Amino acid sequence: MKVLAIETSCDDTSVALIKARKNKRASFDILSNIISSQIEIHKKWGGVYPTLAKREHQKNLIPVLEKALKRANEFKVLKKPKLQSKTVQKILEREPDLLEDYQKLIPKIQKPKIDAIATTIGPGLEPCLWVGINFARALACSWNLPLIPVNHIEAHIYANYLTEESEGFIFPAISLIVSGGHTQLILMENHGKYSLLGETRDDAAGECLDKIARILGLDYPGGPIIEEKALKFKKGGSKTQVDLPRPMIHSKDYDFSFSGLKTAVLYDYKKRSSKIRKSKNYIRQIAHESQQAIIDVLIYKTIKAAKNYRVKSIILGGGVVANNELRKQFKEQVKNEFPNLEIQMPSPNFCTDNAAMTAVTSHFHLKERKEWKNIKAKANLKLTK
Ligand code: KG4
Ligand code: ZN
Repeated sequence: MKVLAIETSCDDTSVALIKARKNKRASFDILSNIISSQIEIHKKWGGVYPTLAKREHQKNLIPVLEKALKRANEFKVLKKPKLQSKTVQKILEREPDLLEDYQKLIPKIQKPKIDAIATTIGPGLEPCLWVGINFARALACSWNLPLIPVNHIEAHIYANYLTEESEGFIFPAISLIVSGGHTQLILMENHGKYSLLGETRDDAAGECLDKIARILGLDYPGGPIIEEKALKFKKGGSKTQVDLPRPMIHSKDYDFSFSGLKTAVLYDYKKRSSKIRKSKNYIRQIAHESQQAIIDVLIYKTIKAAKNYRVKSIILGGGVVANNELRKQFKEQVKNEFPNLEIQMPSPNFCTDNAAMTAVTSHFHLKERKEWKNIKAKANLKLTK
């Protein structure tokens, strides 16, 4: 079984081809996983600007697809181009730039040896989701293939199957998804069986890091830069006292709230003299404290849920899980407090958005194949049905 997947839910344009291995259960070969990042474009705004992101996806999809097919050895130019159906023009009528590129390439190449096309349908930025979906629909129409709709949160969970050493999930499990758009604690009783235990009431953890970076005059995305600054912070190296809250850490539910943390950073920054604000030490210290505040809340609540629901494993996913300090502290605390609890996290490159995770997820939903007409964007798609 070979799947080609498309992911455009936020600011990364990605196309991947993966193949399920025959002998081993739920293990995969990644034939290609091409990601075109829009970071340089969104840096100016300090965050993702949806209409700009949509335009970039339109420009990037064909070059990214071409690279993905080439890398997977599935790119073959036909001697005689095929006739393009009128339906494709209709499907891509709202994406004129993409249609132009599409017509220049797709009729000229051979249909790749794949069994289905998977595409992210939500949650995400609606205009961005639609570009990827319409592209997937057009390809499904041109190549006469079924489409498999994929939930983006579920894809962040299943990114764990992309690591070479993955043995598969151990149920019941608590899954924590932390990205730029989401912070959710999910009880997973089996494949596809989810109950949402809690989520953020305001900003997602990644969003909070992005906003803090902006306050501190650092680049977008904030997470990796804050991690880099935090790593350079030396305890005792600064005379400044920075105390940040751990919002909702002791609340009785499993919800989160990170907007207060961002505000606390803003107040601290505002009260400092311009000399301190410009000092390397202060920036490193506040980056370190912000990162630690987020890590503390995430670990505390996840372990509490794991304990209360007596689960066998913890599954992490989402862009923020690329953070080395978070990974290290999660592993240490689980090992110290619950040595029998398994903890799984995708390798850092599979934590941030990529289409390989979309492809893997579709493998668990093969029965939900649909005709291209029946796939729509769902910006607020929920995991729990
Ligand atoms: O999963 P993702 O690529 O996109 C969404 O679905 O939102 O997550 C992006 C988020 C951004 O907010 C970014 O700042 C954060 O993940 N992030 C990190 C790191 N790398 C990315 N946060 C902390 N540490 C990192 N190393
Ligand atoms: Zn994501």
